[in-house]
Amino acid sequence: MLPLTSRRVVLVTGKGGVGKTTVAASLAMASARAGKRVLLCETQGATRIPALFGKPGKGYEASQVAANLSTLSITPQEAIQEYVMLQLHFQRLYRMVFQNRVMGPFVDAVPGLHDLVQLGKVWFAERETENGRPRWDQIVVDAPATGHGLTMLGAPRAMMDLTRAGPFFENAQRIAEMVEDPGRTGLVLVAIPEEMPLRETEQLFDRLGPMRNLVGGVVLNEVRPLPVSDPAAWPADHEALLVGAGSELRATVAIVDAELDAASRTAGARTRLDRLGVPRVDLPFLFRRDLGRTEIESFAEVFARAS
Ligand SMILES: Nc1ncnc2c1ncn2[C@@H]1O[C@H](COP(=O)(O)OP(=O)(O)O)[C@@H](O)[C@H]1O
Ligand SMILES: [Mg+2]
Repeated sequence: MLPLTSRRVVLVTGKGGVGKTTVAASLAMASARAGKRVLLCETQGATRIPALFGKPGKGYEASQVAANLSTLSITPQEAIQEYVMLQLHFQRLYRMVFQNRVMGPFVDAVPGLHDLVQLGKVWFAERETENGRPRWDQIVVDAPATGHGLTMLGAPRAMMDLTRAGPFFENAQRIAEMVEDPGRTGLVLVAIPEEMPLRETEQLFDRLGPMRNLVGGVVLNEVRPLPVSDPAAWPADHEALLVGAGSELRATVAIVDAELDAASRTAGARTRLDRLGVPRVDLPFLFRRDLGRTEIESFAEVFARAS
């Protein structure tokens, strides 16, 4: 069960490669199918999502990839420009400072600025209206991997500490208010049943400190199916049974053994994740690479059933 339906902004993070993009797309699809108008944002200039739906993307501009579901790719550069131009109304300042050959690189190096402006884009989308009502019911963010994700969450506070007052401070404060409000923002942590991703998830949870209340749930991805219907009946020591067996049978038995090991790692992973005290949803490992819309829809179904 992921109690995320009331949160307007859902940020998905986890160790690199564990399935953040897949989970973000599936969560967004689940909400879209439930009738919400959903914006799914990639960060750091990533542009994988349109292809998942077999559609061309429009980069920084929202483009529809399925019913009720639009996606865009946030690049720090475009977000900086929009942040300064649209939110601070400082066109001249932008040109003077940000497009200046000498100043540009310095401004670019302001710590946390890239992260702040990307969150700023999300905040901007959250505020956006169309015909007098919010343009998006929910914004799902395919956030950077764990450590960087944490830095991004802290970016508004970091900017507030850096500036102390003025328009940058006030904007950062508004973004902090959105990010830190568990009624508006939810975090989804993705892991797979392997030691390093699990440890990163636990460490992230730990380091979130007071922001832990944002965590709406964890997803245990790539859960492999059981290789035999009754693992308890699988003989622990089958060497004696294999005397005289051919290589094919031996290979099959070895595969079953490996999959049973994976199953026990999965059981261990569930225990560890459940210790965090937040809801968990498991997604099955699908025996194919390059997942597409069909798989996203089947995962969306899992999330819909869980809520
Ligand atoms: N449950 C799953 N079963 C099989 N393959 C998966 C599953 N989840 C993700 N993948 C595949 O694993 C790779 C990494 O997933 P991705 O969502 O891109 O991870 P991340 O965004 O965390 O780097 C992709 O090729 C994706 O298709
Ligand atoms: Mg990704």
